[in-house]
Amino acid sequence: MAPKSPILCVLGCGTMGRAILSGILASMTTSGQGEDQTYTPKKFIACVSREESGARIKKSFNDSVTLLVGENVKGVNDADIVLLCSKPQVAQSILIEDGMAQALENKLLISILAGVTINQLEQWVPSTTKIIRAMPNTPCMIREGMTVIGCRNDIKTEDRDFASWAFSTLGRVRFLDEKHFDAATGLSGSGPAFACVILESMADGGVMMGLPRDVAFELSAQALQGAARMVLQTGKHPSEIKDTVTTPAGCTIAGLLTMEDGKIRSTIARSIQEAANVASTLGKIQSKK
Ligand SMILES: NC(=O)c1ccc[n+]([C@@H]2O[C@H](COP(=O)([O-])OP(=O)(O)OC[C@H]3O[C@@H](n4cnc5c(N)ncnc54)[C@H](OP(=O)(O)O)[C@@H]3O)[C@@H](O)[C@H]2O)c1
Repeated sequence: MAPKSPILCVLGCGTMGRAILSGILASMTTSGQGEDQTYTPKKFIACVSREESGARIKKSFNDSVTLLVGENVKGVNDADIVLLCSKPQVAQSILIEDGMAQALENKLLISILAGVTINQLEQWVPSTTKIIRAMPNTPCMIREGMTVIGCRNDIKTEDRDFASWAFSTLGRVRFLDEKHFDAATGLSGSGPAFACVILESMADGGVMMGLPRDVAFELSAQALQGAARMVLQTGKHPSEIKDTVTTPAGCTIAGLLTMEDGKIRSTIARSIQEAANVASTLGKIQSKK
């Protein structure tokens, strides 16, 4: 079971690891008195392999995070909960390093690796290690993230609750069956990149019609954010919101038909299908122990 006020080790602390640490640390400075602090870690450890990456962590977190360079086993030994944030390709070598198995005994391991299944992870860690899989996305950096979490049925409520708490400090959280992880990776993991292409294209249209670039970005980003928030806050179908701004014979329907001519729906939907397909292959290059 996840201990109260655990020590959290981020194993492979790059872009996502730093985003997650930033979110949790920010939530700690904004959480109000009387809020449940059960899961708030009492200490953070960040493990990397290169000094340059260590320097980035020092710059971001100063002394609020203990930095270990090339000392993964020590980091995991000293921790109660391990958040695996390396690239999928190096995960196996990290997890089967000498001494790692003992360090991981009875601990909770939360993996954010795209495409690496719980079944694969189980082959690289002791049977007493409890595994949870999570798929966050980069807006976790500003605590507007989306994280999908999955685990086997025998994972204790306290361990699920810790994972849910940790990622809910960074945005929304949803538990999903692991069979949906590749789809979630293609949609919400890669989604911010797709949204940025749409955002940039909309802004280009504004620039084409004479808006300064910075204004075009602001209008485009706020239009996307506003529409997204309306869907989330009202629970309305997106088409209902679209229809409310579509005056007969007006400018919006003219633009919408042009989008349909460009097969925008299938292009975007197929992009997510492709991203999900590639996500499903990411863990397959790992060899078995
Ligand atoms: N980026 C996304 O939007 C996103 C979304 C969801 C999930 N993910 C998943 O998040 C994971 C990390 O992605 P990222 O973009 O954060 O990658 P990243 O920036 O490259 O971070 C990976 C980190 O792992 C460290 N590392 C590499 N080898 C190591 C070793 N042997 N021992 C200890 N640390 C080691 C690297 O440090 P050194 O440089 O010192 O080696 C680096 O800090 C990936 O598995 C990805 O599938 C990413």
